[in-house]
Parts: sequence; structure tokens; C-alpha cells
Amino acid sequence: MLQDNFGREFHYLRLSITDVCNFRCNYCLPDGYEGKPDQAFLSLDEIRRVCAAFAAAGTRKIRITGGEPSVRKDLPTIIRTVKATPGIEKVAITTNGYRLPELIDEWADAGLDALNLSIDSLDPGVFQSITGHSRLHELLDGLDRAISLGIPSIKVNAVMLRGLNDNQVKPFRDWLRNKPITLRFIELMQTGDNGKFFDEHHVAGEKLRLWLLDNGWSQALRSVDAGPAQEFYHPDYQGRIGLIMPYSKDFCVTCNRLRMDSTGKLHLCLFSDTGIDVRPLLKSDDQRDELIEFLSSQLLDKKPSHFLEDGQSGGTRHLAMIGG
Ligand code: 5AD
Ligand code: SF4
Repeated sequence: MLQDNFGREFHYLRLSITDVCNFRCNYCLPDGYEGKPDQAFLSLDEIRRVCAAFAAAGTRKIRITGGEPSVRKDLPTIIRTVKATPGIEKVAITTNGYRLPELIDEWADAGLDALNLSIDSLDPGVFQSITGHSRLHELLDGLDRAISLGIPSIKVNAVMLRGLNDNQVKPFRDWLRNKPITLRFIELMQTGDNGKFFDEHHVAGEKLRLWLLDNGWSQALRSVDAGPAQEFYHPDYQGRIGLIMPYSKDFCVTCNRLRMDSTGKLHLCLFSDTGIDVRPLLKSDDQRDELIEFLSSQLLDKKPSHFLEDGQSGGTRHLAMIGG
């Protein structure tokens, strides 16, 4: 079992398979992807070895992230490979939904258990001004298709942005009346690149939490393998609302996740200064036990908190580097 010095256990891995993204979200990649396109991302064999080692060490859920994971043509095979790993119970993906209606059937067929789709606004104009992408209807069609395919867990992420979408809580709420999904409002996080944008657009989630409680929403109990959101439900709405407030006190106490970036670096925290290179231990299947031992020893360095509230954003320039 992977465990740190603070008693936190890690059952959940977020695995980035590329840092390339085809969107330009203004809080993340306002100028689009600027990396080296020839970068060597983890191969299918390396991904398989990462999954096998983590699973043998107690990981039960793996989320595939990016950048945008669907820019990799072998994504369905990757989903299938993660899903086939003994010990892995859930394979999830975080996507911006580009071409989702064409892709989702194949992902479902490969065994996808959970879909997180980023939709920062339900208004096409606002959506475009935030993401640089105009086809909101395509994401919404893809989402409906995912619901009809019966993918067990479907969540929509919306980053709350002052002056851009923070006046759209009610349309989002109304939309949830007949949508069996969880909509999670994420508080904007400061990264190395977005300091000025953060100062202009950060809104604290606490106000929204009080509004929900005042408007008949009740807070759900947190399950053991839950994500970082506080979730709320309402008898008149099929959908739930979640709040992710990384700046709230004790946010890190329930941390149950580790991250691997697309070049094989382990990140103990979204905001850690550097990744720890494990690629030399991904060359052959025989290295599995050595890799597990290495992971266990590295975990002893995991810090109790991200210290974001002190204005630290570590080595993370934007979240496309390691997946949110
Ligand atoms: N703050 C909060 N959320 C972010 N995301 C990307 N960058 C940030 C940030 N700076 C979100 C995306 C997506 C998820 C992967 O992370 O909108 O939903
Ligand atoms: Fe791409 Fe996600 Fe960053 Fe938007 S937030 S630019 S979709 S990696």
C-alpha cells in the first residue's frame, strides 16, 4: 500500500499521456500549446508498466489526463490497457470534449468507467471566449451520448471565473434539473503562468457554498474514494453540484491521489516543484518490484499541503503540464 508520513493512502493515480492540447483556455494555455511536438510521451508498454506497478501497490482507480488525452490516436487502446490491469477497478478520463460525439462510443467500448468533461459555460459565446473553441454544442451532444451509453460516472467541470462565468450559476443549476451528472465548480488555481489572470478572475467558492445551502441543497457525505469535491444534492434536481475549493483549509488532508506526467515523472502534488523521473524503471516488466519500492520511498517526501494559500505555485506553469 502506498502511504505517506501523514497517514494518507494513495489509491488513485492521475496519469497524463500527453501535454499537447488543442484548446486555449485563458487560465491555462491562453496562447495555445507551445511545447515541442516531438516530445516522447509514454509508450503503450510504459503505460502498462506504470499501471501494473501502481495496481500492485494498491491503486484502484486511474484517471487518464493530458493536456488533452484524445489528441493521442491510441487512446482507446490505452483505455483498454489500463482497464485490463489486474487490480484496477475504475478507469476514468478528463477531456475537453473535442470530437466527443465521434469518440465516446469507442471509449465506452474500451471499458471507460468515468468521464469528466470540462464545460466552463453553457453560453456558446462565453464558452468560446474562455476556451478559444466554438463548438459547445458538440460537447453537449457528446455528453448526452455518454449518458445514453450508460457510462457509470459522468461529471462536468466548470472553472469559476470572476466577470466571465460567475453570473451563470443559475443557468447551470437549471440545466441539472434533468441531467443525471455531477457539475463541479472549480475554484481557479494560481499557476506559474497565470498570475495576472488569477488576480483578475479568482472567486472563492465559499459564497457559492452558502448560496447552495440557502437554496435547498444539502451536502452529501464523502465516500472513501471520493475526489476533492464537496457534493450537494437537491430533491428537485437529478444532477448534483460539487465544489472544489483548493484554497480551503484542510483541502490536502484528504489527498488520495498521485500524478504521473506524460514523460514518466512522478508528481507528489499538483504543485510540487519538480517531477521525479521513473522512466528508467519502465524499460521492462521485470522492474516492477523495483519501481514499487522506489514509489514507496519517494512518497515519504510528500508534503502535508500545497501551500498555495501562501502564493506558492511550485514548478507548475499551467495544468496542461501534468493534467488538472
Ligand atoms: N485552475 C483550476 N482549474 C483548472 N483547470 C485547468 N487549469 C486550471 C486552473 N488554473 C481545469 C480544467 C479542467 C481540469 C483538468 O482542470 O478546466 O476541467
Ligand atoms: Fe487544454 Fe485543459 Fe488547459 Fe483547456 S484547461 S487549455 S482544455 S489542457
